[in-house]
Parts: sequence; structure tokens; C-alpha cells
Amino acid sequence: MADIYIMGIESSCDETSCAVVKNGRTILSNVISSQADFHTVYGGVVPELASRMHVEAIVPVIESALEMAKLHSFHDLSAVCVTKGPGLVGALLVGVSAAKGICEIENLPLVGVGHIEGHISANYLSDIELTPPFVCLVVSGGHSHIVYVADYGKYEIMARTRDDAAGEAFDKISRAIGLGYPGGPKMDKASQGGDESKYVFPKSRFQDSLDFSFSGMKTAALNQINQIKMHSETFLLADFVASYQYAIVDVLASHAIEACKRKGCNRLCLAGGVSANTRLRNEMDKRCSDSKIKLSYPPIELCTDNAAMIAAAGYYQYLRGDRDDLSLNAIPSLQLPE
Ligand code: KG4
Ligand code: ZN
Repeated sequence: MADIYIMGIESSCDETSCAVVKNGRTILSNVISSQADFHTVYGGVVPELASRMHVEAIVPVIESALEMAKLHSFHDLSAVCVTKGPGLVGALLVGVSAAKGICEIENLPLVGVGHIEGHISANYLSDIELTPPFVCLVVSGGHSHIVYVADYGKYEIMARTRDDAAGEAFDKISRAIGLGYPGGPKMDKASQGGDESKYVFPKSRFQDSLDFSFSGMKTAALNQINQIKMHSETFLLADFVASYQYAIVDVLASHAIEACKRKGCNRLCLAGGVSANTRLRNEMDKRCSDSKIKLSYPPIELCTDNAAMIAAAGYYQYLRGDRDDLSLNAIPSLQLPE
């Protein structure tokens, strides 16, 4: 069979990215232009600013991805796959419009891809032996899901968050303690050397459900910060961050392991921005080894938003014959298909 070259385009939040992936598993290029530094001063992503910056970055990012993949022209591609949602509508539209333009002019197939499926599929790039079925803990800025991947494109959501996503739980407390945006990586760093048993945070559990809830933990953290300030106590930053981070990690890890047990599945993957967290990765290594579960997670650059993961997910859709036309639109609240 001839090799299949997929171009992926991602612009759902604050990263403009374009990649070329060969046969769904080999990254030939993965160019990521991050706007995160520009949003830091505002304490979070400003949607209008994000859209404008995607418009400026998209053409050079696509050109670099094609060049770095050593492809001569768009004609060497088999298809263009683009994130259609979920995400910020004005941001998504930049990638969708660019992909439509390329496909119309170059007469290439167009495939719209779900961002969460992309995160899950990052694991196909980092572990080329990986095949479904497996359980995947998907933890990002907007989502916290435990998904049973029964087959390529066949998902069963075993758990979701009932309020904040794990990434939001990091980002909101990071802002409250003055570390700023993006919270996850800053808290990851600030936690180093901290005593994670110094502060205690409540962990919500629901009967007969593996669903998550992080809002109680977040409110408790905000209350503790206020108490410390009111009593003019010394704020032990590393200890506070390490304790709060461990509370999140403990909940994520215990639910993910429980999901594997319930499914009788000994294969677990991590995905999404929060899976870049050092403490989560270490804890999952330990607990999976204790429970005889084979664990894998992508390298950091494939955990956070990137287009190679979109190309990887799009490859399997392309093989299944999924095609979109120029009516493809951005879907800001797109759900994982079940
Ligand atoms: O997957 P992602 O890049 O974008 C979304 O689809 O949302 O995830 C972004 C989230 C942010 O909340 C960010 O704070 C978090 O992932 N994150 C981390 C780390 N790196 C990124 N959270 C904890 N530890 C990290 N090292
Ligand atoms: Zn993402």
C-alpha cells in the first residue's frame, strides 16, 4: 500500500500548529507557535487576541510544516485534517478556513477532527505498537474524562468532570497565589521539594461513579489562602502547591486505575495538557506497576496542544472514509462521539 501523508492543523485555543504525519504513526514535522506568553499578562486566554494571532501565524506555520516534512508541495499529501472543536469558535475558524482553502485549491480530501480524539491519538505517535482496546485518562484545560477506547474511533466515556476540569483546577489556584497563566506548568515547577502532606484538601467521590469534581478542592484552597492571609501566617508556597497538586493527582490516579479494573483492561494511556504533570506521571508509573497495568504517556510536547495528534486521529478517520466538504464549520462544544 502506498504511504499516506496527513497534514494536521490545530488552532482551538492558544497554539497555532501544523504537522505532517506518515501512515498515522510517524511525525515528519510538528510546528507549534504558542501564544501563551501574550496571554500571561491578562491571566488567561483572551479569545479575540487568540483569533488575531492565529490569523498572523497560520500561513507561516503551515509553510514550515510542509518544508520541515521535506514534502515538495501540497500534492504529496493524502488529506488535510483539522480540529473542528471543541474550543474557542474564533480560534477554531482560523484553522478550519485554512484547511478548507488548501483542500479546495489543491483538490485534497478534508477531514474535520475532534480535539479530544486528537489528545487520545497522541499516544499512537509515542507508542507505535499501541492498538485499542485501552483505557485513557484525558485531562486538559477544558476536559477530564476517563475513556474506554474500544477500537479506533469507538469510545465509551466511563467518567467525566461534573464541574471544573483538572487543568482549570490548576489554572485557577495558580492565579490566586500569583503564579499566573498557564497554571499547570508553573505549579508543577513550584511544587518541587514541597511537603505534600502539609495541607489537606477535600476529595469528592460519587457513589457508583468514577466522575470527577474539583470545585470543592478549589474552594477549599481559596479559603485556606484567605485564612493564611487573614492570620498573617507565612505562605509556604512549595508545600501548598505540592499538597494541592497531590490532591488532584491522587483523585485522577485512583479513578483511572479503578476504571481499568472495572473494564478488566490492563492497558492505560494518559492524554491532554495535565498529563504533562511530573507528579501525575510518577504516581501513575508507581500505581500501574503495583497493579500490573501497562502504562504509556506521550512526551510533554505531544501532551499539550499540537497538530501531530490531530493528524494521527485524522488518519484513522481518513482510512474509514470520513470526508468533509466546504460546509465544515467550527463546533465550539463538540463532544467525543460515543
Ligand atoms: O491539552 P491542553 O494543552 O489544552 C486544552 O485542550 O485545554 O491543556 C492545557 C491545560 C492547562 O490547564 C494547563 O495548565 C495544563 O494543561 N497543563 C499542566 C501542565 N502542563 C499543562 N497541568 C499540570 N502540570 C503540567 N505540567
Ligand atoms: Zn487540548
